[in-house]
Amino acid sequence: MSALSSDIKLLRDFSLQKHNTLALPACAEYFCSVNDVDQLYQALVFAKQNKLDIIPLGEGSNLVLATNIKGLVIALELKGKEAEIQDAEKVLVTLAAGENWHDAVAYCLEQGFFGLENLALIPGTVGAAPIQNIGAYGVELSDLFVSLTAVEIATGELVQLKARDCEFAYRSSIFKQRALDQYIIVSVCLELSQKPQINIDYPALKLALVGIQPNPKIVFDTVCRIRREKLPDPKQIPNVGSFFKNPIVSAAKQTQLLADYSSMPHYAQAQGLSKIPAAWLIEQCGYKGHRQGNVGVHDKQALVLVNFQGNGAELLALARRIEGDVKKKFDIELEIEPRIYGEPS
Ligand code: EPU
Repeated sequence: MSALSSDIKLLRDFSLQKHNTLALPACAEYFCSVNDVDQLYQALVFAKQNKLDIIPLGEGSNLVLATNIKGLVIALELKGKEAEIQDAEKVLVTLAAGENWHDAVAYCLEQGFFGLENLALIPGTVGAAPIQNIGAYGVELSDLFVSLTAVEIATGELVQLKARDCEFAYRSSIFKQRALDQYIIVSVCLELSQKPQINIDYPALKLALVGIQPNPKIVFDTVCRIRREKLPDPKQIPNVGSFFKNPIVSAAKQTQLLADYSSMPHYAQAQGLSKIPAAWLIEQCGYKGHRQGNVGVHDKQALVLVNFQGNGAELLALARRIEGDVKKKFDIELEIEPRIYGEPS
């Protein structure tokens, strides 16, 4: 707890439009930002005294605001990066929750701490990264994760959760499942390597690097380039990246689908399961580049819904329509990946 911490500033009916990368218009009943753990405690006490729900916020790059938000939105702006050399190879890097993820990846690369390059340019903060176990181009956060420190909301205690406690899975963790809304992450510790760790097995990355001897900087730059080609910059076209998870189907279902759609891309998973790109399913239903009023589907990546000055209800209506059409055509249930706040049931 910092002795220098100042009082938090509580705001009412605060617009979150600039605090979510979909730029959805919605207001928070109460809002404050916190720079350290002491300020976070102040916010939690205020919420408890006033019986308010708590909504932790990073850069708002993985949430959909369906309506105005009841409760206290706490913007986590804790900063700090620390490195602890373990031996000739290993280094532990601890990053505060409010650090921008991509800046942290670039910082580690500059320091010669390798392993995060494939995760370059993912929008959002460090504190949000474990919640959905961010992953891209063949690497997941869980591959490098050691532990995190979080405040347990019910008790106000600072706790440490190790990798096994976090129950990481594809685009999931305990924080999206049985510990939903129970913790606020304040820092994350990763184990990186001082020797280059090159992983270019992901098909698009491998293809981009044919004939090139890759080093970590080249991998980082190539991942940035591929992402910029396919994924819209949220500052220009508001979005939250992939709107749906890639569905995982049984071997029998894959065989049945391939009988009808022989060119369907599919990726083998553990236990004979198969991952099908949701982008392909959505594109087959005719949605790539589709616009519906003030919202739409990106023209270069069908998994990305975009907002052209619409609202949460319009965006979710489009998402539900896509889900319905994919279900009808392929008998596959898509699952929305970002957290939805305030959707009427
Ligand atoms: N595809 C289509 N149509 C499209 C786009 C893709 O048919 O419009 C097919 C192609 O066959 C392509 C395949 O889908 O080869 C996979 O596409 P891509 O490599 O773009 O990856 P993705 O499965 O759509 C996932 C992650 C991304 C991550 C990339 C790269 C999920 C939900 N999404 O997308 O993560 O950047 O792989 O690893 O797993 C995010 O979570 O926000 C995100 C962008």
